[in-house]
Amino acid sequence: MRKATAYHDALGDFFAEHADTSPYNAYTDRPAMLELAGDVSGAGILDVGCGAGHYAAELAARGARVVGIEGSDTLLRHARARVNGHADLLLHDLEEPFGFADDASFDGVLCALAYEHIRNRTQLLREVRRVLRPDGWLLVSTTHPTADWLHFGGSYFSHDWRDLPVGGSGLSIHYQRMPLETFLGELLTAGFVLEQLVEPRPIADLRQIDEAAYDKLHRKPSFLAVRLRRP
Ligand SMILES: C[S@@+](CC[C@H](N)C(=O)[O-])C[C@H]1O[C@@H](n2cnc3c(N)ncnc32)[C@H](O)[C@@H]1O
Repeated sequence: MRKATAYHDALGDFFAEHADTSPYNAYTDRPAMLELAGDVSGAGILDVGCGAGHYAAELAARGARVVGIEGSDTLLRHARARVNGHADLLLHDLEEPFGFADDASFDGVLCALAYEHIRNRTQLLREVRRVLRPDGWLLVSTTHPTADWLHFGGSYFSHDWRDLPVGGSGLSIHYQRMPLETFLGELLTAGFVLEQLVEPRPIADLRQIDEAAYDKLHRKPSFLAVRLRRP
């Protein structure tokens, strides 16, 4: 049987809690992506793989109109509680076309740490391009290929599907590791233009809470984040 990539049941509950305060999500990925997003006031944003709604809630608080899509009903439940009616959230499998959205109906699309879970990324990017207006932006973050290589070993150029244990929980997430060339190459082949690439490091607040994690994540890459434009 094909392994599920959406985070169901115990994994969903674990991620919802972990993402709240984790050095990786709360202090590294989210601050970097929100900075790449810039001023979102009045923008229509699609949050692809919205998880427990951390991004959706923050973007809505900054004045955006947000639609979040997510394949796990466990996480959607957490997301609904978090956004408290300030974003529209839909159960949607990212392996399927975006039948819920018209062409050019969003100003921006955000896909945080979900891209590497998707098998049919060609279709996903075609759909993202279709629903973005011309000149709209796309933000994507993913696991850093060097971090995957350090963790899993083998070839840096491997495209194998792996299970990464999460935070001593006994649970693991299932995703495809890929070299930088594949990650960026897919986005450029889909017709997007690269505007910015960052290798996020934790914000200073983490130092007060967890100095060891702060130091570690300032030495060892964890994520990549890119901002692209739909021409
Ligand atoms: C690491 S979490 C990131 C969640 C959120 N973007 C964040 O950064 O807090 C990856 C998310 O992708 C979702 N996901 C993975 N595969 C999916 C699929 N095929 N369809 C819909 N969602 C999927 C998972 O359920 C999970 O919520």
